[in-house]
Amino acid sequence: RKTLYFSRHGESEYNLLGRIGGDTSLSARGKHYASLLANYFNSAKVDYLRVWTSEKKRTKQTAEGIQAPIENLIPLNELDAGICEGMSYEEMQDKFPQEFAWRDQDKLRYRYPWGESYLDIMSRLEPVLLELEREDSVLVISHQAVLRCIIGYFLNSDPEKLPYLNVPLHTVIKLTTKGYDFEVEYIKFNV
Ligand code: F6P
Repeated sequence: RKTLYFSRHGESEYNLLGRIGGDTSLSARGKHYASLLANYFNSAKVDYLRVWTSEKKRTKQTAEGIQAPIENLIPLNELDAGICEGMSYEEMQDKFPQEFAWRDQDKLRYRYPWGESYLDIMSRLEPVLLELEREDSVLVISHQAVLRCIIGYFLNSDPEKLPYLNVPLHTVIKLTTKGYDFEVEYIKFNV
């Protein structure tokens, strides 16, 4: 049996403001989640646990208290929203109504100008997915869109549904092998 763990970073300053992307720090609530997450893993004593985060402050801060080797991986960075980085969805709809409508029509393939699509994330994630196939006891701390792609991959989700998978904040998603499939468990923290 092998187990992989996944979590979004704790709530960030931008999450609070409803803005996408950026490189902000955790909010007070996000920091609280980071400490609960560290308690959870430090007392679970998972053998040979390793933690992989993105290169962003918010995922590094979320991993901070966990007693395990930590690596920061660029391919785990959040979807690059190009010209829309730092905007709220309302602002986007207001400034770029056509882009907003296109994204809504085909969220999987839509690429932000100067940014990325979900399909782009899938291709940059390929080396990470291959590694995860071979690894056990890794906790991946990343971001909403990237985690939708990774978890969707392991659960064999229909690619069209990937951009809509539910990956809530302040929740550890635990995947455990069962035969050739994975069982999924959501561990929600009260933050
Ligand atoms: O809002 C948080 C966030 O991680 C953004 O940084 C990112 O652009 C977005 O989620 C991805 O979600 P969606 O594809 O639903 O816009």
